Amino acid sequence: MRKKIIAANWKMNMTQSEASSFLDTFLRELGDEKTVEVVIVPAFTALSKVSERLSNTQGVRLGAQNMSAEKSGAFTGEVSGAMLRELFVRYVILGHSERRSLYGETDAVVNRKLHAAVEATLKPIVCIGETLEQRDAGDVEKVLAAQLKGSLAGLTAKEIHDAVLAYEPVWAIGTGRTATPEQAQEAHAFIRKTVGELFDETTSAKMRIQYGGSVKPNNTEALMRQPDIDGALVGGASLEARAFAEIVHATARCA
Ligand code: PGA
Repeated sequence: MRKKIIAANWKMNMTQSEASSFLDTFLRELGDEKTVEVVIVPAFTALSKVSERLSNTQGVRLGAQNMSAEKSGAFTGEVSGAMLRELFVRYVILGHSERRSLYGETDAVVNRKLHAAVEATLKPIVCIGETLEQRDAGDVEKVLAAQLKGSLAGLTAKEIHDAVLAYEPVWAIGTGRTATPEQAQEAHAFIRKTVGELFDETTSAKMRIQYGGSVKPNNTEALMRQPDIDGALVGGASLEARAFAEIVHATARCA
């Protein structure tokens, strides 16, 4: 069985002190929920504070929003996998659509970062998803297949056994427009099938695939009841502690 995984992608929000008061409320609201894996993904500047706060919290993990493909050296402004590991970061988001569209990250860049993440023993959350234009042109499967092939190139099944995929249709991110559960399920089933072709059946059956794009407490259950949806990558609604805890509880009801 795939354990469902809900991640809070805070993007460029939450100072250290804001993160701290978020956790006061969130951890209280979360209670002893253990059926769902929860990942908090703050900006780099709040990682150490959140890490400290989570150090004796079972089941809530720490993630980073990005990392360098390089190990160390003259790369001003970059952060390495080893630096993240030292802060007890377990997960790293790679290839988020904002990184792809605003910072020019191609599948080749995502692939280099993925190799670096695996080497640093970080668990990658690899994001893929089509734009509205691509959906309207009927290219969803073509786009997803190309992103998967490009992003996962050169890795073995063993190297990605801990990886998580996130299907985030670009048109649903921050727009309030969610994919319907059926649209999301269709994409997830296709992603799982493609992973099976690129690797093997065991890998595809085990691979957790999150949905992302305007996930809110009131649409979580319908999405999480789909057979190939194994969690969510939550942006906007993850900034509000009670809403995010509700999303986790709603997911637990579907686990
Ligand atoms: P959203 O963002 O929940 O605000 O749509 C999701 C994401 O970008 O990961």
